[in-house]
Amino acid sequence: MTTYRIAGIPGDGIGVDVTAEARKVLGRAAELHHFGLEWTEFDWSCERYTRTGTLMPDDGIEQLSAFDAILLGAVGFPGVPDHVSLWGLLIPVRRAFAQYVNLRPVRLLPGTTSVLAGRTAAELEMVIVRENSEGEYSTIGGRHNRGRPDEFALQEAVFTRAGVERIVRYAFDLARTRSGRVCSATKSNGIVHTMPFWDEIFAEVAAGYPDVAAEQCHIDALAARMVQQPGRLDVVVASNLFGDILSDLAAAVTGGLGMAPSGNINPEREFPSMFEAVHGSAPDIAGQGIANPVAQVLTAAMMLRQLGEDAAAAAVEGAVEKVLADGAVRTPDLGGRSTTAELGSAIAAAL
Ligand code: NAD
Ligand code: IPM
Ligand code: MN
Repeated sequence: MTTYRIAGIPGDGIGVDVTAEARKVLGRAAELHHFGLEWTEFDWSCERYTRTGTLMPDDGIEQLSAFDAILLGAVGFPGVPDHVSLWGLLIPVRRAFAQYVNLRPVRLLPGTTSVLAGRTAAELEMVIVRENSEGEYSTIGGRHNRGRPDEFALQEAVFTRAGVERIVRYAFDLARTRSGRVCSATKSNGIVHTMPFWDEIFAEVAAGYPDVAAEQCHIDALAARMVQQPGRLDVVVASNLFGDILSDLAAAVTGGLGMAPSGNINPEREFPSMFEAVHGSAPDIAGQGIANPVAQVLTAAMMLRQLGEDAAAAAVEGAVEKVLADGAVRTPDLGGRSTTAELGSAIAAAL
């Protein structure tokens, strides 16, 4: 029997609740599909920061490097500035482990409260391929003339040829396994240096994939299209910040943040990948036991697929669909009155 070593980082807010449900479902899937999961749980969070002054210990990255995968809840909570919590854990892990692909599949699930409810899944199935290591998320820049009327802040977006090329290639390879369509989201009509550079590389890579239909879109128009004509989209590749925003939008049109999974992937498998839902710690509903665990359960299914447990991953996705279609157990975001734990247990039982 294969046993996988998993690092669990529940993190903050609803991250703790939804990760517990994902572990419940994963435990049942492991039993049924005959593999082992050996968990090590880390208390790295804003709570730890408040206690000790750091989100994770100095050798945190080194500790994580020994695992087959990382399952993260969410980081960030009021009381600790977001730039402190995110640069203290989430972003360093993504970078240290070269998780340069942030894969965010979106599907219309049964029982959704989406604005597009009633459309069929075939009409709405896309995946955001978000560049996850550079771009707008850079530390280069600064605040100047503090407190003066001419105060200003500057931030440099950094796009490297290697960085853009590898994410675009990933998107084209993925499209070959899906619809054969890729849309690249840029803002070349307004941003003069970085976006035309991205477009140029996109066109170069596209030339090597004559079998894939490549389209370059302006991100603003794409945002509207994602709501009004989502059926015409499949693989959407975007920079770090654009991909971040588009993934919440795509989640919203397919049922909300409670349903959207995500993986920070190191495609070369040199380092562990990290799986975390698209959503954050949701301080507005934290501690109430009402968060929707579906996003994190589907995130756990992505982790299973990365580990090579395809049948178990498909079974978890099937169990989610079954429970949502049945509709008896629904959290408040889906219009029901069930708790996080009730929905997690129902999914585990449906396996
Ligand atoms: P959020 O995703 O936490 O919440 C946005 C809205 O969606 C809230 O109204 C929330 O209640 C709702 N929501 C989110 N997940 C839900 C779920 N599973 N079930 C039901 N409703 C859900 O975004 P935010 O409020 O902008 O951020 C809160 C904190 O989380 C911030 O500190 C932010 O930096 C952090 N954050 C962390 C991650 C991460 O670690 N991966 C991702 C996004 C945001
Ligand atoms: C996400 C989050 C993070 C991001 C934040 C919290 C830094 O929004 O994972 O989508 O922008 O990457
Ligand atoms: Mn985000």
